[in-house]
Amino acid sequence: MFVSRVYTTVAGTCGSCHSEGQTEPAFVAGDADRTYELITLEYPELIDTFQRTALILDPHEGAYVFSAAERNTIEAWLRLE
Ligand code: HEC
Repeated sequence: MFVSRVYTTVAGTCGSCHSEGQTEPAFVAGDADRTYELITLEYPELIDTFQRTALILDPHEGAYVFSAAERNTIEAWLRLE
C-alpha cells in the first residue's frame, strides 16, 4: 500500500521540496522503502500529524495540499498501519 500508492503521492506532491537534503522535514527519498523509513522512523511526528491530518491538512496554508483522492489514499494507508 505504501509502496504502490502512498509513495508516488507523497513524492509527487511534496518531493520537489521535501526530498532528502532539502527542506526539513525531508521525508521523501528516491525510493519507496527509504521514504517509508523516513516517515515512520525519522519523522514519526509526521505520522502523528498525518493522523491528525496535518500532512493531510495543511502545513503550508493552502499552498501545497493533497487532492481529495490523495488524501483518501493516505488515510487508507494509515488505517492499515
Ligand atoms: C515548493 C516547496 C514545498 C512543497 C511542494 C512542499 N513544502 Fe512543505 N515546506 C516547505 C518549506 C520551505 C518548509 C519550511 C518552512 C515552513 O515552515 O514554511 C516546509 C515545511 C513543512 C512542514 C513543517 C511545518 C512546520 O510547521 O514545521 C511540513 C510538515 C511540510 N512542509 C509538509 C509538506 C507536505 C506534506 C507537502 C506535500 C503535500 C509539502 N510540505 C510540500 C516547502 C514545500
